[in-house]
Amino acid sequence: MDSIIVRGGVPLHGQIPIAGAKNACLALMPATLLSEEPLTLTNAPRLSDIATMKTLLESLGAEVTAMAGGRVLAMSSHGLTTTRADYDIVRKMRASNLVLGPLLAREHHAVVSLPGGCAIGARPMDIHIDALTHLGAEIELRDGYLHAVAKGGLRGARVPLRFASVGATENTLMAATLARGTTVIENAAREPEIVDLAHCLRRMGARIEGEGTATITVEGVDRLNGATHPVVTDRIELGTYMLAPVIAGGEVECLGGRIDLVAAFVEKLHEAGVEVEETATGLIVRQNGTRPRAVDVVTEPFPGFPTDLQAQMMAMLCTAEGVSVLEERIFENRFMHAPELMRMGARIEVHGGTACVTGVERLRGAPVMATDLRASVSLILAGLAAEGETVVSRVYHLDRGYEELEKKLSAVGAQVERVRAS
Ligand code: UD1
Repeated sequence: MDSIIVRGGVPLHGQIPIAGAKNACLALMPATLLSEEPLTLTNAPRLSDIATMKTLLESLGAEVTAMAGGRVLAMSSHGLTTTRADYDIVRKMRASNLVLGPLLAREHHAVVSLPGGCAIGARPMDIHIDALTHLGAEIELRDGYLHAVAKGGLRGARVPLRFASVGATENTLMAATLARGTTVIENAAREPEIVDLAHCLRRMGARIEGEGTATITVEGVDRLNGATHPVVTDRIELGTYMLAPVIAGGEVECLGGRIDLVAAFVEKLHEAGVEVEETATGLIVRQNGTRPRAVDVVTEPFPGFPTDLQAQMMAMLCTAEGVSVLEERIFENRFMHAPELMRMGARIEVHGGTACVTGVERLRGAPVMATDLRASVSLILAGLAAEGETVVSRVYHLDRGYEELEKKLSAVGAQVERVRAS
């Protein structure tokens, strides 16, 4: 398995281009299943999770062609061959469950494997099931698979979500576009990736109002057409690279960055004394000489502080001045990076869903192990602040969500190098 070696203590200067959002692309790709006409996505990120979704769609009979080095995905679902999403693919990635809503809407039946356990918590599917049941689907769990049928097609309805789940909102939104009548999703998730999905579906002819608010209204149509849609900027990649100069010192412009995508996060950076400037081309982050101040963070659904930036923020707070309290409210068991950061000299105490970080002046390089996608990158960030060499192993997690990480960080002066397993 590959590992990444980081030699810390070098201030960063330059620009980092931010890719299209992995999580938006993973929801946009299954939208192809809703139409017989082609759907083309531009600004797609080049990541292994996107390759997994491609494989899944192809296994259903869709055609997915990656062009322009993977930046453009041309998809067509005119001839689906099956409505069964197999465990072998679904187990690799939870977002595979996003084919359920579209398949039910278009084909009126689907068999989708349950995603199985995930390192960051139980992540059940009850909200998805409840929502699609409101739209008239009958869903049974047999042999580890969800067997879903909508006799005569889905029917629009009022769909209250018990929690503003991102995936359940996306599945329901896609399903509702082809349902008969009006659907009102209440307590909908408001993430930018959902807004992006709604924009794409509207380009395909769907009738949607209220995306980005807690109530989304969808007027079902008989069919959707083809479209071309650019994937929104990845706010998590953006936030991750914005933290790099805060940790290592220096000044970096994240190209394509927008404050509205990361407002709650930027508010915390300001509170920590970090300078963030919006330019015509992106966001500039500056940290010259001084240590950032400790801040308290609570993760919440959008527009709150994103859980997907919690590990990276913790890496930054390890060398901040003072004591920070981080509360994780979205996933249980999402502090697996804490013991690894402690191996680098961080002072962290974890009690259930709360972590208390006492900032130290300096971290020290150490061999550490990546446990999930965001945890992995937090260890790389911490390595930028550490004295000596940090070796992060099991970095395959990183390739799921960060394209060319070594290249992007090296371009701004970081000493980061991948060692390929022989
Ligand atoms: C998406 C993101 C993920 C991010 C998460 C929260 C994608 C591909 N992934 O994941 O990176 O961390 O949003 O912002 O977009 N839950 C239930 N029952 C359900 C569904 C969810 O209890 O049926 C719980 C989960 O266990 C979790 C919480 O709700 O504790 C949030 O999950 P959800 O918003 O659905 O996240 P995902 O869509 O899986």
